[in-house]
Amino acid sequence: MNDQDLRLAPEGRSDLADLRPYRAPQLDAPVKLNTNENPYPPPDSFTLELQQRLAGLNLHRYPIRDFTEVREGLASYLSTLTDRVWLANGSNEIILQLLLAYGGPERKVMTFEPTYGMHGQITRISGTRHLRARRNPDFTIHPEASIEAIQLHRPDVVFLCSPNNPTGNSNRAEEVIAICEASPALVILDEAYIEFSGRGHLRLVEECDNLVVTRSFSKSWRLAGARIGYLVAPPRIIEEVQKVRLPYHFSALSQATVLTALNHVDEIMGTIETLNFERAKMYEELSTMRGVTAFPSDANFILFRCESRPAPEVWQALLDRGILVRDFSEVPGCENCLRVSVGTHEENEKFLEALSVLLFAR
Ligand SMILES: Cc1ncc(COP(=O)(O)O)c(C=O)c1O
Repeated sequence: MNDQDLRLAPEGRSDLADLRPYRAPQLDAPVKLNTNENPYPPPDSFTLELQQRLAGLNLHRYPIRDFTEVREGLASYLSTLTDRVWLANGSNEIILQLLLAYGGPERKVMTFEPTYGMHGQITRISGTRHLRARRNPDFTIHPEASIEAIQLHRPDVVFLCSPNNPTGNSNRAEEVIAICEASPALVILDEAYIEFSGRGHLRLVEECDNLVVTRSFSKSWRLAGARIGYLVAPPRIIEEVQKVRLPYHFSALSQATVLTALNHVDEIMGTIETLNFERAKMYEELSTMRGVTAFPSDANFILFRCESRPAPEVWQALLDRGILVRDFSEVPGCENCLRVSVGTHEENEKFLEALSVLLFAR
């Protein structure tokens, strides 16, 4: 044993002692249906233009700090104003920046569970107290009860997620407005999957001073590996976020990627129709399988309950057949549930075939 081994590494923050790192298994399964990525790579026309742009970058210089050209381009695509748009490395980093600006010690975040696990995780990382309100058994949010909970507990930040991960259901505009009007809290509406539902609430940012909509390039944009996310919010909120962002956080590579993607929107978004068609077929099949309860989804994934076998056993048996899905059985409200991403037609067929055999369902 050398001196190095005898020395004890310093302990981390005591308030995070029991926090487990984000660990969706990254296994090398032939059919990967566990992280809601788009199964189709970006089109060649996009990749070719990106290669040309990358070749012209001055990587020895810091990137443009406020990425004005990118914000202008994205704002024009979204039909909004440049000073309402902000980007970061994935919508997870957008959420981290929002909670660094609006959370912290003495402050509280409210989520409606079950929902996207990183909302709670980032809440803790930012040192903010996490208040968990429950959804109804069908995963909708009870309007009066949620407003009562907000008025009673007075959170500083409220998360909504539409379509909600992992349950797939969406919020109606009236629900979002009612929650924004219930208190002065910052309301973060996570729309990572919005292009699959086509029922986004971006326009409400102009009506509600306390609303931020966050979105991702990881799903419909087919660019999960590039780590790009954005928010749309009143300019005052973006000014607060700018106080906590690290200098030059959005790299020249990321900026080039967004500018290129904006030149190929129609082609990139061309997979949405196919995936929505596949989702409808998959839902129909799951709904008619014995031993399965499937929940309707507006996103590129479906949550389903295994009624006749323990979900972790089904998860493992699917993996043994080369199919990786996500196990939600330990999440309160999702007991005995698995979530499957919508993949290519062939991948979906393999999944459905394997599941029906495992559950003796067809
Ligand atoms: C609801 C929701 N929000 C945000 C994210 C994070 O996306 P990004 O890859 O943009 O960080 C995900 C990723 O799965 C998600 O499901």
